[in-house]
Amino acid sequence: MEHSKGRRLILFALPLQGHIVPMLELANLLHFKGFSITVVSTQFNKLNPSSYPHLTFDFIDEGLTESEASTNDLVHLISLLNEKCAQPFKECLVNLLSDVSKEPVACLITDLRFHFTQPLAKSFNLPRLLLRTGGASSLVVYIAFPHLHEKGYLPKQDSRLEEPVKGFPPLKVRDLPNIHTKDPEQYFQMVAGRLRDETEASQGLIINTFEDIEGKALIRIRDEFPVPIFGVGPFHKPFPTTTSSGPGSSVSLPQDQSCISWLNTQAPKSVIYAGFGSLAAISEEQFLELAWGLANSNQPFLWVVRPGFVQGAEWLEALPNGFLEALNGRGHIVKWAPQKAVLAHPAVGAFWTHCGWNSTLECICEGVPMICMPCSADQMMNARYISDVWKVGLQLDHGKERGGIVKTIRKLMVEKEGKEIRNNMSDLTKKADLCFKPGGSSYECLEGLVKHICSLDS
Ligand code: UDX
Repeated sequence: MEHSKGRRLILFALPLQGHIVPMLELANLLHFKGFSITVVSTQFNKLNPSSYPHLTFDFIDEGLTESEASTNDLVHLISLLNEKCAQPFKECLVNLLSDVSKEPVACLITDLRFHFTQPLAKSFNLPRLLLRTGGASSLVVYIAFPHLHEKGYLPKQDSRLEEPVKGFPPLKVRDLPNIHTKDPEQYFQMVAGRLRDETEASQGLIINTFEDIEGKALIRIRDEFPVPIFGVGPFHKPFPTTTSSGPGSSVSLPQDQSCISWLNTQAPKSVIYAGFGSLAAISEEQFLELAWGLANSNQPFLWVVRPGFVQGAEWLEALPNGFLEALNGRGHIVKWAPQKAVLAHPAVGAFWTHCGWNSTLECICEGVPMICMPCSADQMMNARYISDVWKVGLQLDHGKERGGIVKTIRKLMVEKEGKEIRNNMSDLTKKADLCFKPGGSSYECLEGLVKHICSLDS
């Protein structure tokens, strides 16, 4: 603790919800360990410092135009951000490094996808650590992209979807990452071409995970790279869950606190919480199947329908007139929820999720079993671990139509299989509780990370 005092860290998150949340949680963790923290934010998805009085914020103007600031093609957006942040971030670094009124900077911690920061940090002789906001098991797959291409697993072919991916149990070809982009070659280069070199050139890799869920993947990553690897998650675990904003509050939408007052009126473990993260989008037809699946399940449900979730719609206009009213208060729909507080609420009995990594970890910490509806990127891999390895959730094996959805919900909420899954989840939650206690894997790894950072400038 004493060594971290008097040292400043610069943190730079990729400005997407699923990346910002863990970076801010890591900022909290490192601040708690005694470091002073400066978080650099872009104008796109600009952070609001008022929730973080203990952190210092610096803003850069990357100048994305309105049409460029679209999340429809993430590969294109990430590539543009790498291009457009380069100069303003460099100027920001010059200022931060020469500011004698503040503590000396020990290192820069950037998102793994901010490739441009590698030569930049090198030119300043500034140690640079990387943050992997997703899981370790999916990272193992991303690192193996060239191999998976060579073996013909990627790009995915419809005829091979059920085939196991050799060397990557329990994954099937269908679980491998996919991303909607105009430029698959750019995606391949971004992942395959840079990930290995970048990691090797860094002073270490921090991953939001813990040994009990991804020990094997962490060993594999440690074998692959000569740099220290720190599995110090779930980053939010040491801090109490509150209903106020903080990491998790949307960069663009306020958290709707009516979720909590509505949950207060529901029976223990009866509610299905349905929420699909900050980026997923589905067709109107699929949306209606989800709506009727929830309605016909006869369970109470709290559903986050983010504006943009239904393709081509503003918000709920695709729902039949009187849909919610007919349920007599059994359903509650909001645009954005205080998700961690919702998952911690005693009325919640299941989480129907897209299996984004943050949602997965938050759910494990709160002991809520899952129904998996992965949409893209790492989510299919996360879902496979949830259903087949940790056995704490179900896939929609009966189909994504209303009838299949009802069957899966009932299996989890009412039938015998659900009980086993709840027991498995409760065991896993206990492990998550222990990982930040003295002697726990994340506790020890965090101590190691603090020492490592303190050794970088000595
Ligand atoms: C994206 C990818 O989809 C995901 O696969 C990857 O692992 C991380 O980046 P996202 O889709 O936003 O993330 O999902 P997720 O990782 O689950 O992060 C969403 C965050 O927003 C969570 O911290 C969640 O608590 C928060 N959230 C979501 C809310 O606070 N309220 C909501 O209503 C919905």
